[in-house]
Parts: sequence; structure tokens; C-alpha cells
Amino acid sequence: LPYARLVGSGSFLPPRLVSNDALAADLATRQIETSDEWIVERTGIRQRYLADKGMATSALATEAARRALADAGVEASELDLIIVATSTPDFVFPSTACLVQANLGNKGAAAFDVQAVCSGFVYGLTTADSFIRAGRAKCALVIGAEVFSSILDWNDRATCVLFGDGAGAVVLKASESPGIIEAELHADGSQMNILCAAGNVAFGQVTGDPFLRMDGQAVFKQAVTVLDRSARSVVEKAGLQLSDVDWLIPHQANLRILTFLARKLEIPTEKVVVTVDRHANTSAASIPLALDVARRDGRIKPGHLALLQGVGGGFTWGSVLLRL
Ligand code: ACO
Repeated sequence: LPYARLVGSGSFLPPRLVSNDALAADLATRQIETSDEWIVERTGIRQRYLADKGMATSALATEAARRALADAGVEASELDLIIVATSTPDFVFPSTACLVQANLGNKGAAAFDVQAVCSGFVYGLTTADSFIRAGRAKCALVIGAEVFSSILDWNDRATCVLFGDGAGAVVLKASESPGIIEAELHADGSQMNILCAAGNVAFGQVTGDPFLRMDGQAVFKQAVTVLDRSARSVVEKAGLQLSDVDWLIPHQANLRILTFLARKLEIPTEKVVVTVDRHANTSAASIPLALDVARRDGRIKPGHLALLQGVGGGFTWGSVLLRL
């Protein structure tokens, strides 16, 4: 069976850079108190990029996709599968993947969105891997893209300081050599309430609460527990050891989760790719953004073994073991 091999990556951040100080000053105009010190100490986040009104997820996704295709040396017409992981799609339908397909000028590829919040990218990557291994696709584009700022309650300081907007993309090709070696996905829908945006548009009206709500401490505990378990399981299934992993690329929720996880797995912090300080939490975009940053700055080299881990609302989680 062929493997799904990563042949290119790309990412895109909206141009508006907002520092913690700038965000704190903006919140202060509405009598909401926060500070750079609080945000850095609790989360490691120093800044985030935010999309301006009118800049939708498909626009970020398209730019990241163009950069990934250029990096791969692949034409859009060669793609036979386009998956966008997002929880902030432009529309109810068509899918954001179809909008990206039209922007890229591809016709005929299968195109659909996956919705697994901050686990979306590993869900999308695993889906594309399964298509390629089954012989149902040969050249796939997998994108994680979000305008999470659009579902934040900007009056809730406990959540609005944590997130940013952005997109990351990879191109996968069928190949004789790995590639994605092992992957696993999980969910526990009974824990939906610890992290949700439980609103909808029905009969032309918003029903429920469309803003992101989170029980921060419950999410923290769940995240480190399931990521630790899943990392061990996926590495064992591949017949490898945690010490074989060159790069741990977890979902960038916050620095304390990343540090805690690395310590539990006994993976040295130098092997953990961290972008949450610069990008904040970009949900489904965070892993491909981090992967692209570390490929482009030369840290991740061909032959390296990367462990990608997503975790988020649903509750969902998953791991992908990838040979670069
Ligand atoms: N600025 C200043 N003070 C704040 C802020 C803020 N932005 N937000 C909350 N506070 C206050 C609270 O009101 C509270 O004040 P009180 O003691 O007077 O009541 C105090 O800080 C402590 O609040 P907690 O919510 O208990 O803070 P905690 O130490 O748990 O940190 C945090 C909150 C950072 C969210 C933490 O729970 C965490 O890291 N959780 C992990 C969840 C996470 O990262 N989620 C990201 C999305 S989920 C995902 O991507 C998987």
C-alpha cells in the first residue's frame, strides 16, 4: 500500500498583530481588566494575529494553500482531495473546502470540511492518509484554518485573550516511502460542555449561545491526560519509542499544557515546537502553522520523525506520527 508523504507546507496569518498590551488597552475601554503579565504567566501568549471584518476563513485557507502548493511544486489541478479543518467556516454551505477549491482553480477534486475544533487538523490529516492508503486519492491538500475571533465573547476576559486567527496547509502525495506512519483519533461527546460554542442559525435566527465557552481547568486536565495516553499509544503501535521522536508538535493551546505534556512524556522542551507565544491558540490552524514555521526555519529536516497531537472541543483528540 502507498504511504501519504508530506511534500510541502505553507501558512498564513492575517496582517493585524495585536500585542497583549494593545488587547488589554482595548478591553480597558470597556472596564474589563487584564494585563500582559497575567496572560504571559498563565498561558505563555504574548501576541496574536486577528482577521479584520470581511476576512473570512476561506481567504486565510487559500493563501496558506497557495504557499503549500508552491513549496511542494504541485499545481492545483493535480489535487484530487481537498480537506479543510475548521470550526469557523464562511458559510453553513458550501463547505470552506469548496470555496478554497474555486479560489485555487481546481475542478473535480473531492472537497469537504472536517469539524473537530482544535483536533481538526489531525482529523483531516488522518482522513487524507486513509484516502491515499486506500488508493482513493493520490495528491491531497489538508488545511487547518480559523477565524476564531468571530466566535469569541470579547467581554469574557477568561477566553478572549487566548485565541488568534490563521491558517496552515500541507500537501500529501502517494509514495512508496513514509510518510504518515501511524495515526489515531478519539472523541468523548459526553464532555461537550467543557468547551463549546453551542449556537446555531435556524429559521433565520441565532439560537443558543454562539460564543465560545470553556471550563479552563477541566480542559487543562483532560488535555494533558488524553495527549499523554495517545502519544504513548501511537508510538507503541508504530513499534517505536518516545525517544525516537525528533519533534513534538502539539496543538498550541497554551504553554503550560505544552510544558506539562513534554515533562510527562519525558520529551526535552527543545524538541517541542512552540508558536503559541506568537500566534496564540488558532484552533485547527495551530498544528500546521507550527509545522510550517519549524520546516521553514530549518529545524525540521527530511528524515525527522514528528508527533502531531490535537485536542479540543467535542471533546476530541488524536495523534499522527509523521516521517518528514
Ligand atoms: N486577565 C486577568 N485575570 C483573569 C483573566 C484575564 N484575562 N482571565 C481570568 N482571570 C481571573 C479570573 O477571573 C480569576 O479571578 P478570581 O480569582 O478573582 O476569581 C483568576 O484570574 C483565576 O481564574 P482561573 O480561570 O481559575 O485561572 P486559571 O489559572 O485556571 O487560568 C486558563 C485560566 C489560562 C484558561 C487555564 O485554566 C488554562 O490554561 N486552561 C487550559 C485551557 C486552554 O488553554 N484552553 C484553550 C482552548 S482549549 C483547546 O484549545 C484545547
